[in-house]
Amino acid sequence: MAAKAEPLPAAIGRYRPLAVLGSGGMGTVYRAHDPVIDRTVAIKVVRTEALESGARAEYLDRFRLEAQAAGRCSHPAIVAVFDVIRVGADPAIVMEFVAGRALSDLLHAGPAARAALPIADLLGQVLEGLGYAHQLGITHRDIKPANIIVTDAGRAKIADFGIARLTDLTGGHTLTQAGAMLGTPSYMAPEQIGEAPVDYRTDLFAVGAILYEALTGRPPFAGRSALETIQRLAGPDPASMVAVEAAGAGAFVPVLQQALAKTPARRFPSASAFAAALAAASRSPPPPAEEPPTRIVTPRPPTVTDATLPPGTGRWDPRTLAKVERALAQYVGPLARVVVAEAARQSPDADSLYQALARTLQTTADRSAFLRSLATGTRLEPTLGTPQTGSPPTAVTAPPSTAIPAAAVTAAQAALAQFMGPIARVLVRQAAEQATSPADFIDRLCGHLAKPEETAALRRRLRAEVEPRLR
Ligand SMILES: Nc1ncnc2c1ncn2[C@@H]1O[C@H](COP(=O)(O)OP(=O)(O)OP(=O)(O)O)[C@@H](O)[C@H]1O
Ligand SMILES: [Mg+2]
Repeated sequence: MAAKAEPLPAAIGRYRPLAVLGSGGMGTVYRAHDPVIDRTVAIKVVRTEALESGARAEYLDRFRLEAQAAGRCSHPAIVAVFDVIRVGADPAIVMEFVAGRALSDLLHAGPAARAALPIADLLGQVLEGLGYAHQLGITHRDIKPANIIVTDAGRAKIADFGIARLTDLTGGHTLTQAGAMLGTPSYMAPEQIGEAPVDYRTDLFAVGAILYEALTGRPPFAGRSALETIQRLAGPDPASMVAVEAAGAGAFVPVLQQALAKTPARRFPSASAFAAALAAASRSPPPPAEEPPTRIVTPRPPTVTDATLPPGTGRWDPRTLAKVERALAQYVGPLARVVVAEAARQSPDADSLYQALARTLQTTADRSAFLRSLATGTRLEPTLGTPQTGSPPTAVTAPPSTAIPAAAVTAAQAALAQFMGPIARVLVRQAAEQATSPADFIDRLCGHLAKPEETAALRRRLRAEVEPRLR
């Protein structure tokens, strides 16, 4: 974080400030000299002027308690806490000064510098420190690259342990200093958005988010605004793995999927389990690009679509990419643009592009539907141009060429749209074209849903609303 040009106070308690190390959302961190012990320390002064006096008193109490907890942490990967002092009405924490650079700076130093970071080793150290604190019952709650300092000797140290967040007192609204930016919620876990309880697994999610950023250049759920990021975090979609695969880091995909699971119970059970998986992944060679980890049993998109993509040249027809992007956007929203562009850069031919994109989707039904939607070629465009989730289609644009009556197709589109949104329109038309019998038509539609309870509910609806129209 860039240091602000603010005047250095003459003294902070008994300490003599030497420089501003940086300013975050809550205050300023100084490098200072402790004349009693004769050593350099870092002091974080938290500005609380925006708090009402009652809230401030409560915050000061909590600050002291959390700093005491952090003071019990003595670990090489955790910045040591020396003291808690008052600076006027504000609390300040005196801590070990770490000569090094924040991981946030290192991650933003350009793709080559990022790729050269020994990230598995650094995050392995972070996980060791976290595992130690978690065993003491202490959760950090704000693990992010700005809170990890990397020394020149390659040691990682976690800062801001036990610094009570001002957010905790203000019902989720972070108090920021005038003009200070509220950081993006890129490393927040889904449970930090609402009132859901936070525990050590929240920290493990954040480490997963940092790993993802280190491998791909972007945090996993980053949107164009904090709001969009929060929507993605809160939504059902898992982190897309296409950028990870595209970066040649496929070995980390299972680790990231577990670390970034939206449900805490699905994440690693402990920091040490995460560290072990991370170390194993960093030792394993990257899988060959043509071998996707999960084979998807779906018809290969027809060559008519492939013909629009010059294979192996890396130069793609922009109209085709736009179409693929629209198809993927049904599942991942606006991120589709970045994902398709990245995957297209890395994919030698259309088939590997489709497979790479399909792998970013969580369920087999989604992957299958996505690949099928590509298989419908240009007919995709008019229906998928504007997503209208929740409003079932009411008309059939092209009557099916099979014996499935148009009325049955329309009813089936409405029924399937309840589960899959606008993509239902394409899928039903396709099923009608390919079905060998009315029963096969129903089975094909049910095959698009992954959850048994959803399949059962769809089958019930089809039986009531579609079957009578099939006779
Ligand atoms: N103990 C320390 N030793 C050396 N540098 C530190 C220390 N603690 C913090 N810093 C530096 O000060 C900078 C500002 O820290 P600060 O915690 O105020 O901001 P932040 O982490 O970006 O945001 P937030 O207020 O949300 O924690 C950090 O990025 C880091 O470079
Ligand atoms: Mg910090």
